[in-house]
Amino acid sequence: MESLIGQWEGETVITRYDRPANAWIFIAVYSTLLGPAAGGTRMKPYPDPRTALQDAMLLAKGMAYKYAIPGMPWGGGKAVIAVPDAFDPALRAGLLRRYGKLVHQLGGLFYTGPDMGTCSLDMNVIAETGAPYVFACTPEAGGCGSSGPFTALGVFTAIQACCKHVFGEASVQGRKVLVQGAGSVGGPLITSLLAAGAEVIFSDVDRDVIRHYRDERGVPFVEKDEIYQVECDIFSPCAGGGILNRNTIPALRCKAIAGGANNQLQAAGDGERLRVRDILYAPDFVVNVGGAMAVLGLETLKWSRDRAEEEVATTIGRALQRVFALAEKKDVSTEVAAEVIAGERLQAP
Ligand code: PHE
Repeated sequence: MESLIGQWEGETVITRYDRPANAWIFIAVYSTLLGPAAGGTRMKPYPDPRTALQDAMLLAKGMAYKYAIPGMPWGGGKAVIAVPDAFDPALRAGLLRRYGKLVHQLGGLFYTGPDMGTCSLDMNVIAETGAPYVFACTPEAGGCGSSGPFTALGVFTAIQACCKHVFGEASVQGRKVLVQGAGSVGGPLITSLLAAGAEVIFSDVDRDVIRHYRDERGVPFVEKDEIYQVECDIFSPCAGGGILNRNTIPALRCKAIAGGANNQLQAAGDGERLRVRDILYAPDFVVNVGGAMAVLGLETLKWSRDRAEEEVATTIGRALQRVFALAEKKDVSTEVAAEVIAGERLQAP
């Protein structure tokens, strides 16, 4: 862990071992140059604490880039709570309250919201001790509720931008879209895609989620290991990170990629690998800012929900046009182009 932190170009890492729950808590703050750090709290088992810390650091950087693209006055941060396998649900609330207290003690260095493994109900519990540094509590608790549908809206907009770029037509009608992960982002995305006349195929690993979409709603399903070979127009990764890599990219049979997952590329060369294969990649941190953008707008800028939707769709649509144009002009991958745009803002606020 010493070498991981030493090599990281971010600002701060907070480490806590929570003995009662046998859980590790890492809060990584990448940059506060543009504003206080804000990012989700990810809660899941990891193979070891080092992997959890590494995830927190990578995700915090992703948040900084995410805010930089639309020029939001927030810094990049992320929290990871690494719980044991088969974590006892009875220990959850206590752990979240102790975590909330830690967030509160940071006094505004880091604000948080939901992420993989946490939801608005968890934010309510964290806010018991962590307020006012906790976003996206349930409406009953005075928050704006789940950020997932707004992230999904941003992904939907990105898919349209990809269709426009690749097929000359933004409509998703009749397009075959492969959605990896039907959770809080992939779920609402599937619903919007179907409503807009797209042909959707999905994959997930959760039995209840599979039952809902495949058995109850009749959405075609593929097993998780088969997903990378499925022929489609758009591939939309909305689950874990690192899924675009030297093993999966050669197998892909899609024209474009736009999804809500964070850190989709596993290594530095993967953006180039996609470009060489002539697959249009909408960089994750450009595509998936919708949740954070809407929640921060609703809760700190008093946006209405209509305004939030409008901001998410127009911002992401425009940002992607810029990224695609710069990539073509400079003859670089879209990932590099997006990093250039974000990097300018991160250096000169
Ligand atoms: N999960 C969100 C993301 O990765 C994080 C977030 C949600 C941040 C809500 C702020 C508010 O972008």
